[in-house]
Amino acid sequence: MMPSNQGLFPSEAPLGERVELSQGAVLLRGFAASEVPALVEAVDEIQALAPFRRMITPGGHRMSVAMTNCGEAGWVTDRTGYRYDSRDPETGRPWPPMPDLLKKLAGRAAAAGGFSRFVPDVCLINRYNPGTRLSLHQDRDEHDYQQPIVSVSIGLPAVFLFGGGERTERPRRIRVESGDVAVWGGPARLNFHGVAPLRDGFDPLVGNCRINLTFRKAL
Ligand code: SIN
Ligand code: FE2
Repeated sequence: MMPSNQGLFPSEAPLGERVELSQGAVLLRGFAASEVPALVEAVDEIQALAPFRRMITPGGHRMSVAMTNCGEAGWVTDRTGYRYDSRDPETGRPWPPMPDLLKKLAGRAAAAGGFSRFVPDVCLINRYNPGTRLSLHQDRDEHDYQQPIVSVSIGLPAVFLFGGGERTERPRRIRVESGDVAVWGGPARLNFHGVAPLRDGFDPLVGNCRINLTFRKAL
């Protein structure tokens, strides 16, 4: 008998589906599904050392998304600008190291997305509570735009917005669920992207939030 996912995964698409978002960008549905419990444990350990915090943009606004990092550096923003910092400004300590599990998952996902030999040095961890959104932006604080971005969704589903190289291009709206992984690079590396306001809900592992891991080779 053929193995069947029916009834096991109540997602709108079969496990393992690839959705091309644009040239150089793909959503790998369910790619990290089996690793989600271990990822949640890793995030718990990281946030015990480097708590989630809502940072201030250079324009003086407090972000609605709460963030922390692990790896050799972390993405931070304050009144002076956006940057990667080897220390957590809240604690003065280096960011917690990136667990091997996370690094390997990112490498495998990048390869599945068409980018081989990706070794991230930074993982930005975003936490979205219901109502929280991330406005359209480009990831452009990294040194080498030849390196892709790998983005892992955990917890509540969300609508990921994936646009083009110009802010004015209307973004595609795509539902992302726990265990889905988006990979973009090459011609899509600087595409605008964001997250629509999160709907309320309950996830058995993380409760009423969504967590996103964004892996980059930033330094
Ligand atoms: C980001 O662009 O930093 C995160 C995107 C997401 O949460 O899916
Ligand atoms: Fe981003």
